[in-house]
Amino acid sequence: MPKQYGGKHLTIAAMAGGAFVAAAFGAVGFAIVGLGWFDVAASSPHSRLVYWITHTTMVRSVQAQSRSVVAPRRFTAAQAARGFRAYDGECVMCHGGPGVPRAPWVSGITPTPPYLLDAAHEWTPSQLKIIISNGLKMTAMPAWNVRHPDAQTWDIVAFVEQLRGMTPARYAQMRHDLRNRTARAQNGRQ
Ligand code: HEC
Repeated sequence: MPKQYGGKHLTIAAMAGGAFVAAAFGAVGFAIVGLGWFDVAASSPHSRLVYWITHTTMVRSVQAQSRSVVAPRRFTAAQAARGFRAYDGECVMCHGGPGVPRAPWVSGITPTPPYLLDAAHEWTPSQLKIIISNGLKMTAMPAWNVRHPDAQTWDIVAFVEQLRGMTPARYAQMRHDLRNRTARAQNGRQ
């Protein structure tokens, strides 16, 4: 029976190894959660490992959630114009725009909100819709569905799609036109 005897030893060694690994994970988990090992200060960046874990989790989650979201086949210029109004009022301070820097306090956010000039290349419209509607837990990205119904969020997606390749002059022009329109509407009401 030497073979069986050896097999038994292996099983016991594997179980002991498994228990050791579980105990080690438990101890590290306890130290992180219970003893304050994890640095929650937004003033220090994530370690590469934590960044990789959180970023990969975010990307996979957005990919999974967006699978059932059907995007419009194409966006109209009117949709993008409406989206610009929301973007310039609610997003630009954190994400900046062509020729527009982020607000100075944004460098104090971890992870720092990225510029979205290439977002349409990185994300499909359905994925952008999920990110903007639902926000991103454990980051400063809010869920905009508390403010915008679905149709308005698609308008914002339509504008983010246009950010790619948009010149600073074009963004400044859109701002200028928007201010003029708002001023005219206000004058009309007086
Ligand atoms: C208070 C700051 C803040 C505001 C305001 C804000 N965001 Fe964000 N946004 C973030 C942060 C933080 C992230 C996450 C960055 C990360 O995960 O690395 C993010 C991520 C995103 C992403 C994913 C970017 C990427 O490539 O990973 C998109 C798209 C986005 N936001 C769009 C918007 C839009 C559109 C608005 C306005 C309706 C908006 N955000 C308003 C902070 C903000």
